[in-house]
Amino acid sequence: MIRPTSPRVTVFHNERALAHATAQRVADLLARNPRVVLGLPTGRTPVRLYRELVALYARGRADFSQATTFNLDEFFGIDASHPGSYRTFMVEHLFGRVNLSPERIHFLNGAAPDPQAECQRYEDEISAAGGIDLQILGIGTNGHIGFNEPARELAARTHRVRLKTETRRANAALFGGDPGRVPPEALSMGMGTIMQARTILLLATGKSKARCIARLLDGTVTTRLPASFLQLHADVDVLMDEAAASEVTSAPRRAAP
Ligand code: F6R
Repeated sequence: MIRPTSPRVTVFHNERALAHATAQRVADLLARNPRVVLGLPTGRTPVRLYRELVALYARGRADFSQATTFNLDEFFGIDASHPGSYRTFMVEHLFGRVNLSPERIHFLNGAAPDPQAECQRYEDEISAAGGIDLQILGIGTNGHIGFNEPARELAARTHRVRLKTETRRANAALFGGDPGRVPPEALSMGMGTIMQARTILLLATGKSKARCIARLLDGTVTTRLPASFLQLHADVDVLMDEAAASEVTSAPRRAAP
């Protein structure tokens, strides 16, 4: 197989090194372009990254005052103030700890009475902000990005989605450990929304991601593994720890410095 220049694959010794390098990259970008538009994920993977960004901010090494953010997704049918909402997660891990300006923080409203209009509003706001400069992604064990779950067809734009059982299970910790209490639906950026970001960083840590990371890099593109579409983007970095990289055979790995 002819290896394209993107996705670029970098393997870090551990999760800590990955988070450290990624936070530094975001801080450098903020320094170069203070008005940068960031696309942000929730989940376990970015927790250390957000901790590192908070630490850089506290040391005066990262300034978010003019930056804009758009989160990838939100559960449908719950309010932003719900303890299990992704909005609550972001306030706890990042928004409440750095100097982001509240009017430049954008989120899908899971309690919107008209979800279709809400999704359109989000698309319009992303366009009005000039598009996303840097989209940071995690990856589900089933290969989802955002909440674009494996399916026969994928939605291009922000949409309402039914969550797979494994995704509700993976989010149970936010709802008292009970997958049955995880909302069955969500609102999510679509594949096209994500793919229009100028630069994409996909972060993957832990053995549970090894299988889908290997499939993502194997050269095929399939709606059954939504993350495989990242192979069609010209500027993607796949950043992972040794455990997540353990099943990769087809891609040359760049060892992290
Ligand atoms: C969350 C999101 C999801 C997660 C993915 C991995 O905003 O977009 O695609 O990135 O489910 O979740 P963790 O990091 O918890 O393994």
